[in-house]
Parts: sequence; structure tokens; C-alpha cells
Amino acid sequence: MEFRRIPGLPPYVFTIIDSLKLEARREGRDVIDLGFGNPDLPSPQVAVDKLAEAAANTRNHRYSSSRGLPKLRQAVADLYLRRFGVALDPDTEVLSTIGAKEGFSHLMWVLLQPGDAAIVPTPSYPIHIWGPYFAGADARQVPIGDGDDGAGYIDRVMEAWELGWPKPRVVVLSFPHNPTTTTVELADLQRLVDWARERDVVLVHDLAYGDMCFDGWSPPSILQCEGAKEVAVELYSMTKSFSMAGWRVAFLVGRPDVVDALAKLKSYLDYGTFQPIQIAATVTLNEAADYPRELNKVYEARRDALVDGLSRIGWEILKPKGTMFAWAKIPEPYADMGSIEFAQHLVRECDVAVSPGVGFGPGGDGHVRFALIENEQRIAQAVRGLRRGLTRL
Ligand SMILES: Cc1ncc(COP(=O)(O)O)c(C=O)c1O
Repeated sequence: MEFRRIPGLPPYVFTIIDSLKLEARREGRDVIDLGFGNPDLPSPQVAVDKLAEAAANTRNHRYSSSRGLPKLRQAVADLYLRRFGVALDPDTEVLSTIGAKEGFSHLMWVLLQPGDAAIVPTPSYPIHIWGPYFAGADARQVPIGDGDDGAGYIDRVMEAWELGWPKPRVVVLSFPHNPTTTTVELADLQRLVDWARERDVVLVHDLAYGDMCFDGWSPPSILQCEGAKEVAVELYSMTKSFSMAGWRVAFLVGRPDVVDALAKLKSYLDYGTFQPIQIAATVTLNEAADYPRELNKVYEARRDALVDGLSRIGWEILKPKGTMFAWAKIPEPYADMGSIEFAQHLVRECDVAVSPGVGFGPGGDGHVRFALIENEQRIAQAVRGLRRGLTRL
């Protein structure tokens, strides 16, 4: 029997690099892993303590509320007011999801059906392309990145929408962007919101890196735009900025009928995140609000070690203003290799593992992505390995 949704899925290219890395490590080589975007820093202590305490209370072992505990939704509303100056109604404009990835995937089920289309960026975090596909819809890929800013993507989205048929019902955007680290200014988001208010389209902004930013800069929320709640929803996740990847806590906020529709679908699918985790997340948002700022200092130092180190060996790349990644164009003497062969070369000759850009869609093939998940000393060691192995630089 053919499992019809599965054969269309390309093999996860990251597994190719992963197996090479494991092979090298078995040979006793010290491979520095800058591949998978899995945060290495610990979650806030208050989250761990509160989780242990709440888990000991047997009342918390039952099914929880699928929308998210009221106090958790209130804590999110407080965060949006503090951070973005955006007032949210915790009852109608905030929904807890089991991570942004789950929230996004099921949101696509809510907004799309076979025959529909969505506009998505390429290269892209894979679920931004595959989420619409799983809903049976067409994902129209619009280029993003490579030094271009968010305004360029927004212009291309509008053009693709005006020219396309059937008219896409959904536009996916995500700034700061994984993998290209592209950022956007509020004025450009406002242009998109104004445009969308005159059309039948929902804007879905994945703000997974909303509090992961450097050099004193911080990214905007789309909900800061005037009229945004008529057309836009946003995903805010605790995975990266609170280093809580395994906890699976994120939120969908914004346009109330969209929030309500996802809540309804999810009431059929799940009972929400384990209640002690929701309690711990509430306390963390209220009591460790500054945690992202501390974390950013660590990532900023790692970013500098990598980008400045690469520059010293003759590989110039953009310095990201946000995310936990650096997006690096393959240097000219190696450009013919494409991203998979180049990433394999980096494991074999430099003892450094990165993600090949093609893993984020065909638009990524001229690049590789470094994740800042090793400490500064290890990153310096990676740069030494790259100098040793990239003899054509
Ligand atoms: C753009 C983007 N969205 C969502 C996620 C996943 O977030 P979560 O852990 O909340 O599911 C990631 C993780 O890498 C991401 O890069």
C-alpha cells in the first residue's frame, strides 16, 4: 500500500550530514556540531523548580485545558503589552499550542484545504512549506534572503498574490527568518497589513525568534501594526528565547476568529501541554522575563566569534541581527559543489558539521547554515578547522 502523503516528502537531507558526523566521531575525530538548531543552554531555573513542584501535585496529572490555562494566557498578554505595547484579550486572542511547529501545522489545516494555495518563503523552515502541503494545498514559494531585507520579500509576496490563481488564502512570513536571518522593519509589515486588509487573505507570522536579537535591536511583532488583528495571527514560542525547546510551549495570538478556529480544531486533537509545564511556563513568563536578554549576550558573543573568525580566514558573511543562526554563501571556489557536497566536505576536511542550505528548499542550495549551539571556544576551534580544510580560500 502507498501512503500517499509520504512518498512526496524528500528525505530529510540533514540526516546525510548527521550520519557522516557520527561516522567521523566513531573514528575518534572531534566534530564541532553547528548543524541542528537545538539550543544547548539550560532552561531558566525557575521553570525547572516550578515544574518539579507542580508535577508532585497529583491534581495536575489530569487532562489540562486545550486552550491553555487562563493564567498562562494572561501571562502572554502581559508579555505582549510589556514587550510590544500590544493589548491582547487572553480569552479570545491567545491560544496555547504544543510548540510553534504544532500550532503552525494545524493552523494550516484550519485555513487551507485541497485546491487552496498559500504563499511561503524559500528557503524556509521546512514546515512552512510542508504545512500547507499536508493540508492538501499548494505552497507557492517566494524567494527571501541573501542580503535582501524583509521589504523585498513583502514586495514579492504582493506581486505573487496579484499574479497568481487561485488567489492564495494565506501568506506565511517569519522575521527574524530561519535560515536566512532576514529581518523586517515595522513600516514594511504595516504596508503588508494595509494591503491584506483590502483582500481575502490571512497573514501568518511565525515569530519564533521574536526575543532572540543582538546589538540592542529587537524585532517587531506584526500585531504592532494598525489593523493587524483584522488580518494577522502570530506564533510566539518559548523554545528559543527561553531555551525551552523540549517543553513544547508556544502561543497563537491575534485575529480572534482564527484563534478560535484553531482552538476548536485542537479540542478534537489534543488536551494541550501537560499542566505542570503550563504552570512552569506561566511562572517563567512572569518571573524570568529578562531571561532572553541574558541568553542573547551568550549568542551574540558566539555570533561574533563565528562571523569575525570566518572573515579572518577570507569567508565574508552577513552578521545576523537575530535568530541563532548564520547564513553563509558557499565561497566562490567551492560554489560548484552545491550545499550537500560542500557540507560533506566540511565534515570530512574541517571536522565541522553544518546544515546544507538545500534542506530548507531549492532556494537555499547556494548556502549552508551555521547554528550557534556550541560555546565560543568550540566555535574558534571550528574556524581553525575551516582554515585548515578550505585550502582554496
Ligand atoms: C521558524 C521556526 N518556527 C518554529 C520553530 C519551532 O518552534 P517550536 O519549538 O516552538 O515548535 C523553529 C525551530 O527551529 C523555527 O525556526
